[in-house]
Amino acid sequence: MTINDKTFVPFIAADTIQQRIAELAEQINQQYAGKTPLIVVVLNGAFLFAADLMKRLTVSCEVTFIRVASYTGTGSTGQLKEILGLKESIEGRDLIVIEDIVDTGLTICDVCDQLKAKNPASLAIATLLFKPKALKKAVDLQYVGFEIDNKFVLGYGLDYDGLGRNTDEILVLAS
Ligand code: XMP
Ligand code: MG
Repeated sequence: MTINDKTFVPFIAADTIQQRIAELAEQINQQYAGKTPLIVVVLNGAFLFAADLMKRLTVSCEVTFIRVASYTGTGSTGQLKEILGLKESIEGRDLIVIEDIVDTGLTICDVCDQLKAKNPASLAIATLLFKPKALKKAVDLQYVGFEIDNKFVLGYGLDYDGLGRNTDEILVLAS
């Protein structure tokens, strides 16, 4: 697949993704038995992962959607992230934050710090993809679909210049 000037080649097949999501859902079903977690989906990239994961959850759950906007702040990282769209109270709730990919970890750390400040009962992170070699800030990830090398990936919700989200497989930038 070519998008603008970049060529992407197949990386993780659709059935492999679905099989792994079924395993993650099974873990969540066991670990949240008797609870009603609130699934917090980070748009846009996580929308397909969240949909396929939720279809396999048998535990009672609710879902809400947030966006993360970058703004130049005075924090040590320079760029701070602001959460947009969280309408409901999360105090006392068991949160499962759904991300498409954890790269440097800075986004998810900012998001989780802000959510934790609102006193949820618990907070877990489920990310489809994780680039451990790119990580700049330690982060506790409870559910990881695939650990991948530090290469740019696309598809299954992830984009390049806004394009390429609409595939059932994940592709990687051809080197
Ligand atoms: P950080 O570095 O804060 O990044 O963990 C998280 C966000 O950066 C985007 N990102 C990617 N998007 N292919 C993409 O399509 C990638 O390989 C990639 N790496 C990072 C993504 O939006 C993620 O939420
Ligand atoms: Mg994202």
